Amino acid sequence: MAVDVPQPIVTRRFGLHESWTLRTYLDNGGYDGLRKALAMSRDDLVENVKTASLLGRGGAGFPAGQKWSMLRKAEPVYLVVNGDESEPATFKDHQLMVTDPHQVVEGALICAFAVGAAQAFIFVRGEFALGLERMTQAVNEAYEYGAIGRDIFGSGWSIDLVVHPGAGAYICGEETALLESLEGKRGFPRIKPPYFPAAIGLYGAPTVVNNVETVSNLPWITLNSGDAFAAMGEGRSTGTRIFSLSGRVNRPGNYEVEMAKTTFRDLFYDERFGNGIRDGRELKAFIPGGASAPWFGADKVDMPLDQDEVGKAGSMLGSGSIVAMDDTTCMVRAAWRITRFFHHESCGQCTPCREGAGWVDKVMYRIEQGAGREEDLDLLLDVCDNIAPGLSWPPQQTTICVLGPSIPSSIVSAIRMFRDEFLVHIKEGACPFT
Ligand SMILES: Cc1cc2nc3c(=O)[nH]c(=O)nc-3n(C[C@H](O)[C@H](O)[C@H](O)COP(=O)(O)O)c2cc1C
Ligand code: SF4
Repeated sequence: MAVDVPQPIVTRRFGLHESWTLRTYLDNGGYDGLRKALAMSRDDLVENVKTASLLGRGGAGFPAGQKWSMLRKAEPVYLVVNGDESEPATFKDHQLMVTDPHQVVEGALICAFAVGAAQAFIFVRGEFALGLERMTQAVNEAYEYGAIGRDIFGSGWSIDLVVHPGAGAYICGEETALLESLEGKRGFPRIKPPYFPAAIGLYGAPTVVNNVETVSNLPWITLNSGDAFAAMGEGRSTGTRIFSLSGRVNRPGNYEVEMAKTTFRDLFYDERFGNGIRDGRELKAFIPGGASAPWFGADKVDMPLDQDEVGKAGSMLGSGSIVAMDDTTCMVRAAWRITRFFHHESCGQCTPCREGAGWVDKVMYRIEQGAGREEDLDLLLDVCDNIAPGLSWPPQQTTICVLGPSIPSSIVSAIRMFRDEFLVHIKEGACPFT
């Protein structure tokens, strides 16, 4: 039976004519959530988001309302919206910023008001030329309309919002590296503790960092209530979520579906979503939540898109990027390609990440090219074990940020699930898939 698709929340204006303009936004309920929020108490706003159980959509899945309650009691407070989105195969925030930038602005303003922020920033990946243009245009329009600036809608509340382009590094999506970058420094992650943004964030002040999709939910949650959001999904995985579906499916794209009620199978095979594996081939494995996530075999295809269920099964929904691999995919090459990415993006502060990424990149590459040795498999696992001791999930951390412990995910998944493919590469001295 086909899964129910509820009314979309964050993508509901996507098909509208010039959906990115203030005119279209206002004609379709735009800024009503902010008006309502400004008439509410800050405590009630935070409680509403806690009731919604809005889990962060940037990767870690931390509940937004809880994050806002953990801010150190000090002034000023800052809000930074994370629009860096550099995780391979994740492309939902870009679409949100290009297609409905006012929703991001309104969500940011509701969050800023709820936490009493003195200033808000939207950090947009530098390569997103159109995203930056649309976000900047939306912010300018919102200033003119009176939604940003002095005495917003006559409420007495004032705030400025700045769109800041990133300089094009994956690591600047990590929240503390992002704050360094925003301060004009090199994007090096900070050590936590003590530099949890809620305690010591931007310019040393308590700071909320929330993802673009996370804040995009806030206008709807404010207008319709946290209870209405929590009525969708199950357990902590409430509401809807956008999944960026790619790989060997017939219809790759961003799909907003109900959490926990929808399964990976629905996403891959339902004609409204992936519409099946390309050329009628077999699903072999899939990445359930971005390049950092351990892989699942096809036997997990009936698992619901539920953050806790996926966590219990040894992986994560992460950034909401799902990649399907079929029986024509070389798993050694797929794992090597992700490894290469992490090697390139390591900021270099921590030895296990900087050196380890380079070693495993080289060893994976030589196996894929047919020049590997059987001992290389133990060598790979040994180096991975030094990066993330125990090779368990969630990973043990020996590094400043979790980019390091993300490196082993694809390598260990590929070796554990497809060891035979590594051995064929080694024995035949070539990739059997080319
Ligand atoms: C290496 C690395 C890259 C990240 N990239 C992003 C990103 O591009 N966008 C994002 O929202 N979160 C990213 N995160 C997660 C952020 O650190 C942070 O958890 C998130 O922005 C918080 O927002 P949320 O609670 O609304 O999800 C990244 C984390 C790591 C370790
Ligand atoms: S784990 Fe890697 S990316 Fe993160 S701080 Fe250390 S070297 Fe930099």
